[in-house]
Amino acid sequence: RVVAVIMVGGPTKGTRFRPLSLNIPKPLFPLAGQPMVHHPISACKRIPNLVQIYLVGFYEEREFALYVSSISNELRVPVRYVREDKPHGSAGGLYNFRDLIMEDNPSHVVLLNCDVCCSFPLPEMLEAHRRYGGMGTILVIKVVSYIFILRRNSSRSSFSSTYYGLISILLCMRVSPESANQFGELVSDPVTNELLHYTEKPETFVSDRINCGAYIFTPDIFTAIQGVSTQRKDRATLRRLSSFEALQPPNRSSPSGFVRLDQDILSPLAGKKQLYVYETMDFWEQIKTPGMSLKCSALYLAQFRFTSPHLLASGDGTKNATISGDVYIHPSAKVRPTAKIGPNVSISVNARIGAGVRLVSCIILDDVEIKENAVVIHAIVGWKSSIGRWSRVQAAGDYNAKLGVTILGESVTVEDEVVVINSIVLPNKTLNVSVQEEIIL
Ligand code: GDD
Repeated sequence: RVVAVIMVGGPTKGTRFRPLSLNIPKPLFPLAGQPMVHHPISACKRIPNLVQIYLVGFYEEREFALYVSSISNELRVPVRYVREDKPHGSAGGLYNFRDLIMEDNPSHVVLLNCDVCCSFPLPEMLEAHRRYGGMGTILVIKVVSYIFILRRNSSRSSFSSTYYGLISILLCMRVSPESANQFGELVSDPVTNELLHYTEKPETFVSDRINCGAYIFTPDIFTAIQGVSTQRKDRATLRRLSSFEALQPPNRSSPSGFVRLDQDILSPLAGKKQLYVYETMDFWEQIKTPGMSLKCSALYLAQFRFTSPHLLASGDGTKNATISGDVYIHPSAKVRPTAKIGPNVSISVNARIGAGVRLVSCIILDDVEIKENAVVIHAIVGWKSSIGRWSRVQAAGDYNAKLGVTILGESVTVEDEVVVINSIVLPNKTLNVSVQEEIIL
């Protein structure tokens, strides 16, 4: 029996995701038309003998209530949101719910970060984990500047399959070696796959293998986390007893019960034949900023070609607009036939897309109206916003740059014939003049 736990964090996390996290918890922000957390949840569906999925976070319970009840019905696996009263860290949060998790008597616990985008090869990881025989297996990836994946879809012509192959190459441009220090870097034995050394976000280069934030553990992980908590408490007691320490202010860097999986558990356990790695050759990205959500939306849309082709719009479907590349259109959205849409476009609930509109690489959120002949390129258009006739909302499409993707917050109005380039517009603003490289507060 397997229980999956997805760490979703809380409102104090995800601040880099503003202004999009102002109205919705980041884990519910749609990527490829589905909430961010939906992608790891659907990947869990492939795990044999999965009995329960927990989402652990410190958001209000009501924010997740609707989603967890609908996804539980859809998957026919119970999905439950459980709330921490305060942040306990990535391992402390898991430990906090150990009794609940162990009620199902699992042989394995799958632990996933919510803010990563990948194909979550969980059954393969589980199989490898059983072979290794350790306490835990970590999903890792080699960082490279480019990888070349040419996937062919038999239903497309050879010209378009080459075209889609090229798109795949661009989309699979993974985290670069220079940015590897934003992650956990690790060294493993090339033969046994044992984790030999682990450093979290090192200042100098350690390895080109990074931690992807997906793990399989045996229940012994709880004993390991308890060990860290107990050591901390013992040290705190010793400090209190020492006359020198009694005069010092309390240590706030590691509050009791706050345990980080990476620094506190993975680092000390490396090289002790307890942890192993499983390397993915597929796509992987971290989703900390709105710009990255647009890139990850593209990756998930591309994955739908293989996993859920029914979710992709086709040009000759009921919508009748011209569709180019991977596009998701919610069934309630209204798209005029002369619009041209794609690639990498997701259109959410009740959006209205006018005649002659051109949409490329964008996320259009609920209840947005895009009027006739407007153009949106490399942008995220917030809930209930409106873009006027012949307007342009666009950006350079550099997903890692602060203004590389134009973001309109909730209820922003861009009036007719206004151009908005490389800008971030906070909620409830009306733009009647053109702006470029600006943050409109
Ligand atoms: N419930 C809960 N409670 N969730 C938490 C808490 C907490 O106190 N703290 C963090 N999380 C969640 C976050 O929402 C995220 O999904 C995950 O745990 C990891 O967050 P961080 O601990 O902030 O680490 P990170 O995202 O900067 O880096 C981790 O993930 C990278 C992969 O994306 C590290 O494990 C890196 O080594 C790794 O490369």
